[in-house]
Amino acid sequence: MKLLVTGGAGFIGSNFVRYVLSNHPEDAVVNFDALTYAGNLENLSDLQDNPRYTFVHGDIASPRDVSKIFRDQPIDVIVNFAAESHVDRSLHMGPRTFIRTNILGTQMLLDAARKHKVRRFLQVSTDEVYGSLGPTGAFTEETPLQPNNPYAATKAGADCMVRAASHSHGLDAVITRCSNNFGPCQFPEKLIPLMITTALADKPLPVYGDGMHVRDWIYVVDHCSGIDTVLRRAKSGSVYNLGGNYDVPNIQIVKGVLKILGKPESLITYVKDRPGHDRRYAMDSSRARRELDWTPAHRFEDALKATVDWYVNHPLWWQRIRSGEYLKAYEKLYGWRDEQCR
Ligand code: NAD
Ligand code: TYD
Repeated sequence: MKLLVTGGAGFIGSNFVRYVLSNHPEDAVVNFDALTYAGNLENLSDLQDNPRYTFVHGDIASPRDVSKIFRDQPIDVIVNFAAESHVDRSLHMGPRTFIRTNILGTQMLLDAARKHKVRRFLQVSTDEVYGSLGPTGAFTEETPLQPNNPYAATKAGADCMVRAASHSHGLDAVITRCSNNFGPCQFPEKLIPLMITTALADKPLPVYGDGMHVRDWIYVVDHCSGIDTVLRRAKSGSVYNLGGNYDVPNIQIVKGVLKILGKPESLITYVKDRPGHDRRYAMDSSRARRELDWTPAHRFEDALKATVDWYVNHPLWWQRIRSGEYLKAYEKLYGWRDEQCR
Protein backbone atom coordinates (compact mmCIF):
# COMPACT_ATOMS: atom_id res chain seq x y z
CA MET A 1 0.00 0.00 0.00
CA LYS A 2 1.25 3.50 -0.79
CA LEU A 3 0.41 6.12 1.85
CA LEU A 4 0.41 9.85 1.26
CA VAL A 5 1.33 11.28 4.68
CA THR A 6 0.84 15.04 4.78
CA GLY A 7 2.74 17.01 7.43
CA GLY A 8 5.18 14.11 7.75
CA ALA A 9 8.09 16.42 8.61
CA GLY A 10 6.38 17.61 11.79
CA PHE A 11 6.31 16.04 15.23
CA ILE A 12 3.61 13.35 15.02
CA GLY A 13 3.83 12.93 11.25
CA SER A 14 7.55 12.07 11.35
CA ASN A 15 6.98 9.57 14.15
CA PHE A 16 4.13 8.05 12.09
CA VAL A 17 6.24 7.74 8.91
CA ARG A 18 8.86 5.82 10.89
CA TYR A 19 6.16 3.72 12.57
CA VAL A 20 4.63 2.63 9.25
CA LEU A 21 7.95 1.86 7.56
CA SER A 22 9.09 -0.23 10.56
CA ASN A 23 5.82 -2.10 11.10
CA HIS A 24 4.64 -2.66 7.52
CA PRO A 25 7.52 -3.82 5.30
CA GLU A 26 5.18 -4.01 2.30
CA ASP A 27 4.13 -0.33 2.51
CA ALA A 28 5.66 2.80 0.96
CA VAL A 29 5.25 6.37 2.20
CA VAL A 30 5.20 9.68 0.37
CA ASN A 31 5.75 12.51 2.84
CA PHE A 32 4.13 15.69 1.50
CA ASP A 33 5.05 18.72 3.61
CA ALA A 34 5.29 22.48 3.12
CA LEU A 35 8.15 22.74 5.67
CA THR A 36 6.71 25.58 7.70
CA TYR A 37 8.50 26.67 10.89
CA ALA A 38 7.28 23.36 12.43
CA GLY A 39 8.49 21.04 9.65
CA ASN A 40 12.01 19.66 9.90
CA LEU A 41 13.48 17.09 7.51
CA GLU A 42 16.14 16.30 10.10
CA ASN A 43 13.40 14.37 11.92
CA LEU A 44 13.61 11.75 9.15
CA SER A 45 17.23 12.07 8.01
CA ASP A 46 17.83 8.36 8.80
CA LEU A 47 15.25 7.44 6.12
CA GLN A 48 16.84 9.43 3.27
CA ASP A 49 18.10 6.31 1.50
CA ASN A 50 15.10 4.11 2.23
CA PRO A 51 13.60 3.07 -1.15
CA ARG A 52 10.12 2.95 0.41
CA TYR A 53 10.28 6.61 1.50
CA THR A 54 9.90 9.72 -0.67
CA PHE A 55 9.71 13.36 0.32
CA VAL A 56 7.77 15.88 -1.77
CA HIS A 57 7.82 19.57 -0.87
CA GLY A 58 4.32 20.97 -1.23
CA ASP A 59 1.39 22.80 0.27
CA ILE A 60 -1.93 21.01 0.89
CA ALA A 61 -3.79 24.27 0.23
CA SER A 62 -2.21 24.72 -3.21
CA PRO A 63 -4.28 23.10 -5.98
CA ARG A 64 -1.18 22.92 -8.18
CA ASP A 65 0.96 21.14 -5.58
CA VAL A 66 -1.84 18.72 -4.70
CA SER A 67 -2.71 17.78 -8.27
CA LYS A 68 0.98 17.31 -9.12
CA ILE A 69 1.43 14.70 -6.42
CA PHE A 70 -1.44 12.62 -7.79
CA ARG A 71 -0.25 13.08 -11.37
CA ASP A 72 3.20 11.79 -10.47
CA GLN A 73 2.26 8.61 -8.59
CA PRO A 74 -0.62 6.34 -7.58
CA ILE A 75 -1.74 6.89 -3.97
CA ASP A 76 -3.79 4.31 -2.05
CA VAL A 77 -4.58 6.19 1.17
CA ILE A 78 -4.13 9.69 2.60
CA VAL A 79 -3.28 10.34 6.25
CA ASN A 80 -3.63 14.07 6.88
CA PHE A 81 -1.43 15.44 9.65
CA ALA A 82 -0.61 18.74 7.91
CA ALA A 83 -1.84 21.60 10.06
CA GLU A 84 -1.04 24.74 11.93
CA SER A 85 -1.06 23.13 15.36
CA HIS A 86 -0.33 25.63 18.12
CA VAL A 87 -3.17 27.24 20.10
CA ASP A 88 -1.09 30.24 21.25
CA ARG A 89 -0.14 31.12 17.68
CA SER A 90 -3.77 30.95 16.60
CA LEU A 91 -4.64 33.36 19.42
CA HIS A 92 -1.78 35.82 19.13
CA MET A 93 -0.75 35.75 15.47
CA GLY A 94 -4.26 35.42 14.02
CA PRO A 95 -6.20 32.53 12.48
CA ARG A 96 -5.58 33.20 8.77
CA THR A 97 -2.96 30.47 8.16
CA PHE A 98 -4.98 28.13 10.39
CA ILE A 99 -8.08 28.60 8.24
CA ARG A 100 -6.06 28.21 5.06
CA THR A 101 -4.17 25.04 5.97
CA ASN A 102 -6.51 23.32 8.41
CA ILE A 103 -9.81 23.87 6.60
CA LEU A 104 -9.05 24.81 2.99
CA GLY A 105 -6.07 22.45 2.78
CA THR A 106 -8.10 19.54 4.15
CA GLN A 107 -10.81 20.25 1.57
CA MET A 108 -8.24 20.24 -1.27
CA LEU A 109 -7.09 16.81 -0.14
CA LEU A 110 -10.66 15.53 0.13
CA ASP A 111 -11.38 16.72 -3.43
CA ALA A 112 -8.21 15.02 -4.68
CA ALA A 113 -9.10 11.83 -2.79
CA ARG A 114 -12.47 11.67 -4.58
CA LYS A 115 -11.06 12.58 -7.97
CA HIS A 116 -8.27 10.00 -7.82
CA LYS A 117 -10.39 7.30 -6.13
CA VAL A 118 -8.19 7.02 -3.06
CA ARG A 119 -9.20 3.98 -1.00
CA ARG A 120 -9.30 5.74 2.39
CA PHE A 121 -8.82 9.22 3.86
CA LEU A 122 -7.79 9.49 7.51
CA GLN A 123 -8.08 12.87 9.20
CA VAL A 124 -5.86 13.35 12.25
CA SER A 125 -7.90 15.47 14.62
CA THR A 126 -7.81 16.48 18.26
CA ASP A 127 -9.77 16.36 21.51
CA GLU A 128 -9.73 20.18 21.44
CA VAL A 129 -12.68 20.15 19.03
CA TYR A 130 -14.93 19.14 21.96
CA GLY A 131 -14.19 22.26 24.02
CA SER A 132 -13.77 22.16 27.80
CA LEU A 133 -15.13 19.73 30.42
CA GLY A 134 -16.48 20.49 33.89
CA PRO A 135 -14.97 18.77 36.93
CA THR A 136 -16.18 15.27 35.95
CA GLY A 137 -16.73 13.12 32.86
CA ALA A 138 -14.78 12.54 29.65
CA PHE A 139 -15.19 13.28 25.94
CA THR A 140 -16.82 10.52 23.90
CA GLU A 141 -17.18 10.49 20.11
CA GLU A 142 -20.76 11.71 20.63
CA THR A 143 -19.75 14.82 22.60
CA PRO A 144 -20.86 17.89 20.59
CA LEU A 145 -18.12 19.88 18.87
CA GLN A 146 -17.68 23.11 20.86
CA PRO A 147 -14.22 24.46 19.99
CA ASN A 148 -13.10 27.41 22.12
CA ASN A 149 -10.00 28.75 20.37
CA PRO A 150 -9.21 29.48 16.71
CA TYR A 151 -6.96 26.41 16.31
CA ALA A 152 -9.66 24.11 17.68
CA ALA A 153 -12.32 25.85 15.57
CA THR A 154 -10.37 25.19 12.37
CA LYS A 155 -9.80 21.54 13.33
CA ALA A 156 -13.54 21.17 14.02
CA GLY A 157 -14.23 22.81 10.64
CA ALA A 158 -11.98 20.26 8.95
CA ASP A 159 -13.71 17.38 10.77
CA CYS A 160 -17.05 18.67 9.46
CA MET A 161 -15.74 18.80 5.88
CA VAL A 162 -14.44 15.23 6.20
CA ARG A 163 -17.82 14.10 7.51
CA ALA A 164 -19.58 15.90 4.66
CA ALA A 165 -17.34 14.28 2.02
CA SER A 166 -18.09 10.88 3.48
CA HIS A 167 -21.83 11.47 3.89
CA SER A 168 -22.58 13.32 0.65
CA HIS A 169 -20.06 11.82 -1.75
CA GLY A 170 -19.47 8.38 -0.26
CA LEU A 171 -15.75 9.01 0.26
CA ASP A 172 -14.25 6.36 2.54
CA ALA A 173 -13.10 8.64 5.36
CA VAL A 174 -12.32 8.14 9.06
CA ILE A 175 -11.38 10.58 11.82
CA THR A 176 -9.15 10.10 14.86
CA ARG A 177 -9.32 12.59 17.75
CA CYS A 178 -6.33 12.39 20.04
CA SER A 179 -5.28 14.03 23.29
CA ASN A 180 -2.01 15.92 24.02
CA ASN A 181 1.00 14.13 22.56
CA PHE A 182 4.59 14.20 23.78
CA GLY A 183 7.79 12.50 22.64
CA PRO A 184 10.86 13.00 20.44
CA CYS A 185 10.90 15.77 17.80
CA GLN A 186 8.11 17.89 19.29
CA PHE A 187 8.63 21.57 18.52
CA PRO A 188 9.61 23.36 21.76
CA GLU A 189 6.61 25.68 21.76
CA LYS A 190 4.40 22.94 23.29
CA LEU A 191 4.30 22.41 27.05
CA ILE A 192 6.57 19.41 27.64
CA PRO A 193 9.48 20.21 25.26
CA LEU A 194 9.25 23.90 26.22
CA MET A 195 9.63 22.99 29.89
CA ILE A 196 12.49 20.54 29.23
CA THR A 197 14.53 22.91 27.07
CA THR A 198 13.85 25.94 29.30
CA ALA A 199 14.82 24.03 32.45
CA LEU A 200 18.02 22.82 30.75
CA ALA A 201 18.86 26.50 30.21
CA ASP A 202 18.01 27.24 33.90
CA LYS A 203 15.44 29.82 32.78
CA PRO A 204 11.99 30.43 34.38
CA LEU A 205 9.29 27.94 33.34
CA PRO A 206 6.11 29.83 32.31
CA VAL A 207 3.05 28.04 33.75
CA TYR A 208 -0.23 29.63 32.69
CA GLY A 209 -2.68 30.80 35.36
CA ASP A 210 -2.81 28.54 38.42
CA GLY A 211 -1.30 25.52 36.63
CA MET A 212 -4.42 23.46 37.40
CA HIS A 213 -5.63 23.09 33.81
CA VAL A 214 -5.96 19.40 33.05
CA ARG A 215 -4.82 17.67 29.85
CA ASP A 216 -4.75 13.98 28.93
CA TRP A 217 -1.24 12.94 27.82
CA ILE A 218 -0.31 10.24 25.32
CA TYR A 219 3.12 9.11 24.12
CA VAL A 220 3.43 9.84 20.41
CA VAL A 221 4.19 6.21 19.50
CA ASP A 222 0.87 5.15 21.05
CA HIS A 223 -0.91 7.80 18.99
CA CYS A 224 0.81 6.42 15.87
CA SER A 225 -0.30 2.86 16.67
CA GLY A 226 -3.85 4.17 17.17
CA ILE A 227 -3.90 5.95 13.79
CA ASP A 228 -2.43 2.89 12.09
CA THR A 229 -5.09 0.66 13.67
CA VAL A 230 -7.95 2.94 12.65
CA LEU A 231 -6.51 3.26 9.13
CA ARG A 232 -6.44 -0.51 8.63
CA ARG A 233 -9.40 -1.75 10.68
CA ALA A 234 -12.08 0.90 11.18
CA LYS A 235 -15.36 1.04 9.30
CA SER A 236 -15.79 3.79 6.73
CA GLY A 237 -17.28 6.96 8.23
CA SER A 238 -16.23 6.16 11.80
CA VAL A 239 -14.69 8.45 14.43
CA TYR A 240 -12.35 7.25 17.20
CA ASN A 241 -11.07 9.01 20.31
CA LEU A 242 -7.47 8.10 21.17
CA GLY A 243 -6.28 9.04 24.66
CA GLY A 244 -3.47 8.10 27.01
CA ASN A 245 -5.61 7.56 30.16
CA TYR A 246 -3.37 10.03 31.96
CA ASP A 247 -5.23 13.26 32.71
CA VAL A 248 -3.44 15.48 35.23
CA PRO A 249 -2.96 19.21 35.96
CA ASN A 250 -0.19 20.95 34.04
CA ILE A 251 1.75 21.74 37.20
CA GLN A 252 2.17 18.01 37.86
CA ILE A 253 3.71 17.56 34.41
CA VAL A 254 6.08 20.49 34.94
CA LYS A 255 7.20 19.20 38.34
CA GLY A 256 7.73 15.75 36.80
CA VAL A 257 10.05 17.21 34.17
CA LEU A 258 12.03 19.14 36.80
CA LYS A 259 12.38 16.02 38.94
CA ILE A 260 13.80 13.94 36.07
CA LEU A 261 16.25 16.72 35.22
CA GLY A 262 17.22 17.30 38.86
CA LYS A 263 16.33 20.99 38.57
CA PRO A 264 14.71 23.08 41.36
CA GLU A 265 10.96 23.84 41.48
CA SER A 266 11.94 27.48 42.09
CA LEU A 267 12.27 27.71 38.29
CA ILE A 268 8.45 27.52 38.03
CA THR A 269 6.94 30.94 37.27
CA TYR A 270 3.18 31.44 37.11
CA VAL A 271 2.38 33.79 34.23
CA LYS A 272 -0.73 35.45 32.83
CA ASP A 273 -3.24 32.85 31.66
CA ARG A 274 -3.93 32.00 28.02
CA PRO A 275 -7.13 33.79 26.92
CA GLY A 276 -10.15 31.45 26.97
CA HIS A 277 -7.95 28.64 28.32
CA ASP A 278 -9.90 25.34 28.36
CA ARG A 279 -9.96 24.08 31.94
CA ARG A 280 -10.10 20.32 31.55
CA TYR A 281 -9.79 17.66 28.86
CA ALA A 282 -10.24 13.92 29.45
CA MET A 283 -10.76 11.18 26.89
CA ASP A 284 -13.00 8.15 26.80
CA SER A 285 -11.23 5.88 24.29
CA SER A 286 -13.32 2.82 25.09
CA ARG A 287 -14.70 2.59 21.54
CA ALA A 288 -11.20 2.08 20.11
CA ARG A 289 -10.41 -0.47 22.82
CA ARG A 290 -13.68 -2.36 22.37
CA GLU A 291 -14.03 -2.31 18.58
CA LEU A 292 -10.39 -2.25 17.43
CA ASP A 293 -8.53 -3.74 20.38
CA TRP A 294 -6.31 -0.63 20.54
CA THR A 295 -4.83 0.56 23.80
CA PRO A 296 -1.76 2.70 24.62
CA ALA A 297 1.24 0.49 25.38
CA HIS A 298 3.53 2.93 27.21
CA ARG A 299 3.51 3.94 30.89
CA PHE A 300 3.47 7.74 31.23
CA GLU A 301 6.45 7.87 33.62
CA ASP A 302 8.68 5.75 31.34
CA ALA A 303 7.66 7.71 28.26
CA LEU A 304 8.32 11.07 29.94
CA LYS A 305 11.76 9.87 31.02
CA ALA A 306 12.50 8.68 27.45
CA THR A 307 11.34 12.04 26.10
CA VAL A 308 13.48 14.06 28.53
CA ASP A 309 16.46 11.85 27.65
CA TRP A 310 15.86 12.46 23.93
CA TYR A 311 16.04 16.25 24.39
CA VAL A 312 19.10 15.95 26.65
CA ASN A 313 20.82 13.81 24.00
CA HIS A 314 19.83 15.96 20.99
CA PRO A 315 20.82 19.50 22.02
CA LEU A 316 21.60 20.58 18.45
CA TRP A 317 18.06 19.71 17.31
CA TRP A 318 16.44 22.19 19.69
CA GLN A 319 19.23 24.71 20.31
CA ARG A 320 19.05 25.79 16.68
CA ILE A 321 15.31 26.30 17.04
CA ARG A 322 15.65 28.21 20.29
CA SER A 323 18.01 30.77 18.80
CA GLY A 324 18.07 33.28 15.95
CA GLU A 325 14.91 33.86 13.95
CA TYR A 326 12.78 31.57 16.06
CA LEU A 327 13.67 33.46 19.21
CA LYS A 328 12.57 36.76 17.64
CA ALA A 329 9.23 35.26 16.60
CA TYR A 330 8.91 33.69 20.06
CA GLU A 331 9.44 37.00 21.82
CA LYS A 332 6.82 38.65 19.61
CA LEU A 333 4.39 35.81 20.23
CA TYR A 334 4.81 35.76 23.98
CA GLY A 335 5.04 39.47 24.86
CA TRP A 336 1.57 39.09 26.42
CA ARG A 337 2.65 36.69 29.12
CA ASP A 338 5.54 38.75 30.52
CA GLU A 339 3.14 39.98 33.16
CA GLN A 340 3.40 37.41 35.95
CA CYS A 341 0.22 36.62 37.88
CA ARG A 342 1.88 35.75 41.18
P1 NAD B 1 3.45 20.09 13.93
O1 NAD B 1 3.12 21.55 14.00
O2 NAD B 1 4.64 19.57 14.65
O3 NAD B 1 3.63 19.64 12.40
C1 NAD B 1 2.78 20.09 11.38
C2 NAD B 1 3.42 19.73 10.05
O4 NAD B 1 2.53 20.14 9.00
C3 NAD B 1 4.77 20.44 9.80
O5 NAD B 1 5.70 19.52 9.27
C4 NAD B 1 4.41 21.51 8.77
O6 NAD B 1 5.50 21.85 7.92
C5 NAD B 1 3.28 20.83 8.00
N1 NAD B 1 2.40 21.79 7.34
C6 NAD B 1 1.83 22.90 7.88
N2 NAD B 1 1.09 23.54 6.95
C7 NAD B 1 1.17 22.80 5.81
C8 NAD B 1 0.62 22.92 4.50
N3 NAD B 1 -0.17 23.96 4.17
N4 NAD B 1 0.89 21.97 3.58
C9 NAD B 1 1.70 20.92 3.89
N5 NAD B 1 2.27 20.77 5.11
C10 NAD B 1 2.00 21.69 6.05
O7 NAD B 1 2.11 19.35 14.38
P2 NAD B 1 1.91 18.00 15.21
O8 NAD B 1 1.93 18.30 16.65
O9 NAD B 1 2.81 16.96 14.65
O10 NAD B 1 0.39 17.67 14.81
C11 NAD B 1 0.09 16.92 13.64
C12 NAD B 1 -1.41 16.76 13.52
O11 NAD B 1 -1.93 16.12 14.68
C13 NAD B 1 -2.16 18.09 13.42
O12 NAD B 1 -3.20 17.93 12.48
C14 NAD B 1 -2.72 18.31 14.81
O13 NAD B 1 -3.91 19.06 14.76
C15 NAD B 1 -2.97 16.89 15.25
N6 NAD B 1 -2.93 16.66 16.70
C16 NAD B 1 -1.86 17.09 17.42
C17 NAD B 1 -1.80 16.84 18.80
C18 NAD B 1 -0.61 17.25 19.63
O14 NAD B 1 -0.63 17.08 20.84
N7 NAD B 1 0.47 17.76 19.04
C19 NAD B 1 -2.87 16.15 19.42
C20 NAD B 1 -3.95 15.73 18.64
C21 NAD B 1 -3.97 15.99 17.28
P1 TYD C 1 0.11 23.09 24.67
O1 TYD C 1 1.32 22.22 24.73
O2 TYD C 1 0.22 24.42 23.99
O3 TYD C 1 -1.06 22.19 24.05
P2 TYD C 1 -2.64 22.50 23.94
O4 TYD C 1 -2.89 23.95 24.09
O5 TYD C 1 -2.93 21.99 22.57
O6 TYD C 1 -3.29 21.68 25.02
O7 TYD C 1 -0.39 23.35 26.15
C1 TYD C 1 -0.67 22.30 27.05
C2 TYD C 1 -1.14 22.91 28.35
O8 TYD C 1 -0.03 23.60 28.95
C3 TYD C 1 -2.24 23.93 28.17
O9 TYD C 1 -3.15 23.83 29.27
C4 TYD C 1 -1.50 25.27 28.23
C5 TYD C 1 -0.34 24.99 29.16
N1 TYD C 1 0.90 25.75 28.89
C6 TYD C 1 1.53 26.45 29.94
O10 TYD C 1 1.08 26.45 31.09
N2 TYD C 1 2.66 27.15 29.64
C7 TYD C 1 3.20 27.19 28.39
O11 TYD C 1 4.24 27.86 28.17
C8 TYD C 1 2.54 26.46 27.34
C9 TYD C 1 3.09 26.48 25.93
C10 TYD C 1 1.40 25.74 27.63
